[in-house]
Amino acid sequence: MSSHDQGETSSNPSYLVGKRDDIIQAKRVTKFVNGRDVLVLYHQGEFHALDMRCYHSGGPLVKGDIEEFNGQMCIVCPWHKYKITLAEGEGLYQAVDPNMKPPKPVWCSKGIKQRIHTVSVSNGDVFVTLNDSPGAIDSDYYQTQKYRDKLAKG
Ligand code: FES
Repeated sequence: MSSHDQGETSSNPSYLVGKRDDIIQAKRVTKFVNGRDVLVLYHQGEFHALDMRCYHSGGPLVKGDIEEFNGQMCIVCPWHKYKITLAEGEGLYQAVDPNMKPPKPVWCSKGIKQRIHTVSVSNGDVFVTLNDSPGAIDSDYYQTQKYRDKLAKG
């Protein structure tokens, strides 16, 4: 996989993940990007990239449905149906205030749980720039060698 310098101001390289047309046709691809397993998807005219294993328990987000909740486009993990916003990687859930009559569920955020990466398109090629923001994000655990070793052992 080759890296591609997006400009003098960026110290964070971007990596070629495929041809624009191929990814649009496939809708979803998983790529190993500089040591990280990343899901790149195309939905309603936009590309998105995120860690490919769900922050909750490592579920395969490549098989998740995409739906809108509370005005935010989310991927729904196929294992336990957790909802993750594609824009920020926030975990969304519904809560009910028992004091509210009648009780009505409201959408709440658990904060950023899934690492979301940046996608750019240049001359028909698609590039991913990994999100290197400091501090742990829950989905990071499923990118570790410790977790990969666990998967390999079955
Ligand atoms: Fe994704 Fe549990 S592993 S919701």
